[in-house]
Amino acid sequence: MKKKGYILAIESSCDDTSAAVIKDGVVYSNIISNQAIHQQYGGVVPELASRAHQKNIIPTVDAALKKANIGLENLLAIACTSGPGLMGSLLVGISFAKSLSMALEIPFIEVNHMQGHIFAHFVKEENTKIPEFPFLCLTVSGGHTQIVKVKSFNELEIIGQTIDDAAGEAFDKIGKMLKLPYPAGPHIDRLAKLGENIFKFNKPKIKELDFSFSGLKTSVLYFLQKELKNNINFIEENLNNLCSSAQNTIIDILLEKIMLASEITEIKRIAIAGGVSANSGLRNRLLELGKEKELDIFIPNLAYTTDNAAMIGVVGEMKFKHNMFSEITLTPNTKNNF
Ligand code: KG4
Ligand code: ZN
Repeated sequence: MKKKGYILAIESSCDDTSAAVIKDGVVYSNIISNQAIHQQYGGVVPELASRAHQKNIIPTVDAALKKANIGLENLLAIACTSGPGLMGSLLVGISFAKSLSMALEIPFIEVNHMQGHIFAHFVKEENTKIPEFPFLCLTVSGGHTQIVKVKSFNELEIIGQTIDDAAGEAFDKIGKMLKLPYPAGPHIDRLAKLGENIFKFNKPKIKELDFSFSGLKTSVLYFLQKELKNNINFIEENLNNLCSSAQNTIIDILLEKIMLASEITEIKRIAIAGGVSANSGLRNRLLELGKEKELDIFIPNLAYTTDNAAMIGVVGEMKFKHNMFSEITLTPNTKNNF
């Protein structure tokens, strides 16, 4: 029997080139080509990211089709991240997706990256719990920190967001001060498990549901400068405790606001998404809080926390079912809105 009905999804908004094959919410492949080149610079260099996407995109798509054991003739539509993200990176994915959809004469569907992160919760897998609408999603990544009220697959309202750095950026910048490699989030997570939360850093006083992380970064910097004057090896000798303390402060800030959002909206279903939702401290503390406050907590499968095309495919397929196709003249959207 001829295989039919697969969506090819492409994600190239930042420094990972990813392609996935999805059908009926099931992920048949999800290939991610990481770009190691940025590590030596301690952050993503946009120009290098675009070039690496250009090099990776065809092999990544090929690998995704092979792993799913399908060919181009089995595709129903092509979904692609249209933003937010880095302009040069987005252009590579979008140009590729538009060209392929034209060549195959199948629809091209744009997907918002942040909507993708949230709908990673809708990948159909054994033992995963899919949230019912409405729910709140704390979307925490390298570029964003948002509380989103999700009323349906296409009705999303940002009810709180960062006024400066993102939570992932706070992990990465504090990690840099601690001389950890980029991206520092996973390293801080690992070392925090070996340390204790004994150092106190400033927490921001920001109104309502908005966040701020730049003050924390400065607080860690001044603390380190002071301690290093007395002991040049302070960082090395206290690394685990520094990681635990910084991580717990970031989690305190995040949890305080998502709990306030739940109180204000009276929504008791709470999900987390984005790269920082891979953090074991955040996952555990939110689960504990959920039990204590009788909330329904949704923790994503680790494979779909950091950037991946499967999450883009999930939204792409939902849009396909609603005939929400995009124009071939579409250009990247680098704004933060949905
Ligand atoms: O969602 P993502 O892959 O890319 C963006 O859309 O930005 O998120 C990347 C961010 C980085 O800042 C990285 O340090 C952070 O997610 N991250 C983590 C963990 N894994 C990735 N932060 C804390 N703990 C982790 N385990
Ligand atoms: Zn992301």
